[in-house]
Amino acid sequence: MDNQMPRKKVLSCIQPTGTPTLGNYLGALKNWKNISDDYDAAYAVADLHAITVRQDPKMLKKQIMEMYAMLLALGIDREKSIIFVQSHVPQHSQLAWILNCYTQFGEMSRMTQFKDKSSKHADNVNVGLFSYPVLMAADILLYKADFVPVGVYQKQHLEITRDIAERFNGIYGNVFTIPEPFIGKKGAKIMSLQDPEKKMSKSDTNVKSFISLLDKPETIIKKMKSAVTDSESCVRFDEANKPGVSNLMSIYACCTGLSYEQIEKEFESKGYGDFKQKVGEAVVEELRDVQEEFNRLIKDEKYLKECMKDGAEKATRIAQRTLEKVMKKVGYVQI
Ligand code: TYM
Repeated sequence: MDNQMPRKKVLSCIQPTGTPTLGNYLGALKNWKNISDDYDAAYAVADLHAITVRQDPKMLKKQIMEMYAMLLALGIDREKSIIFVQSHVPQHSQLAWILNCYTQFGEMSRMTQFKDKSSKHADNVNVGLFSYPVLMAADILLYKADFVPVGVYQKQHLEITRDIAERFNGIYGNVFTIPEPFIGKKGAKIMSLQDPEKKMSKSDTNVKSFISLLDKPETIIKKMKSAVTDSESCVRFDEANKPGVSNLMSIYACCTGLSYEQIEKEFESKGYGDFKQKVGEAVVEELRDVQEEFNRLIKDEKYLKECMKDGAEKATRIAQRTLEKVMKKVGYVQI
C-alpha cells in the first residue's frame, strides 16, 4: 500500500504593476522559492487584478513579460512547480463570477485595500476594484491551496477567502480547501525607506522610497544611504520608537540570516553610516543571481512564451477540475 501523504498545496500571485520591490521579494517571492521544494506550488502573474487600476496596454504587456521572467529568475524548479499568467487560465474569471454571488456587498465594503485604492484613484472606483478580493479567492480556491505565502498586508484578503469558502462549503458540502496564510517571521512587512510608517510599494511616486529588484548595485547602496533613520545613533530593534532602523534591521536579517541580537552586537559601537552601507551590500549580494538570471531571460521572448504556455496548460488542468465540481454543485447542466 502506498502510504505516502499527499503533498500540501501552495498558491500565490503577484501583480505586474511595475518592477517588484525588495518588499515583494522579502515578503513573498523569497518564500515562494524556499517552500517550492516541499509543496505542490503554483505561482501566477495576476494580470487580471492589475486592470482594476487603469493601465497603458503597451506597458502592461511589457510588465507581464518582465514579471514572468522575474518569477522564472527566482530559480523555482518548473518541473515541480507551475508558473503561469492568470489571464491565460479563464477559469479564474469564471469562478470569480460564481463566488461574487456568494459574497456580500458589506463584506467587500470593509476591505482596507479597497478603501485605500478608491481614495487614491477617486476618478476610477470601478466594480472590479470593489470585487478584487473575490477574484483573489477564486485564484486560491481553484488550486485547493492549503497555504498562501504572502506579506502581512494580504492577510485580510485571505480571511475573506476563507469566509467565502466556508460559506460555499456550508451550502454544498466539502468543495473547497480552507487556505491559511503563510507569512514569514521576518520580511512580511518591509517599509518605505523614506517614510517607515508606510509600506514599501512599487507604485510609490518617490523612487528613493523603494528598492526595485532591478536597481543597479550603486543605486541600491545610494538608496540605503539616504534611508530615514533617527537621531539616536544606536542600532536597536524597536519598531514603535525606531521604525526606520528596525526596518533596515529586518532587511539585513532577511538577507544574512542573522538574528536581531546578532545584528545589534555587530553594530554596537558603529554609526548609522556603516550600518546602512552593510545593509546595502547585503541586499546587492542577495539580488545578484536573480538580477543576472532576469537579464538573461528577458531577452528571450520565445522561451518565455513557451514557459507561459506550458504553465497555462498545467494550471488549466487543475483549475478546470475544481470549476467543474463547483458548477455541478451549483446546478449547472454538464454536457
Ligand atoms: P502585490 O502584487 O501587491 O504583492 C505581491 C506580494 O508581495 C507582498 N508585499 C510585501 N511584503 C512585505 N513588505 C512589503 N512592503 C510588501 N509589498 C508587497 C504582498 O503581500 C504579496 O504577497 N492581491 C495580491 C496579488 C494576488 C494574490 C492572489 C496573492 C492576486 N491573487 C492570490 C495571493 C493569492 C497583490 O496585490 O499582491
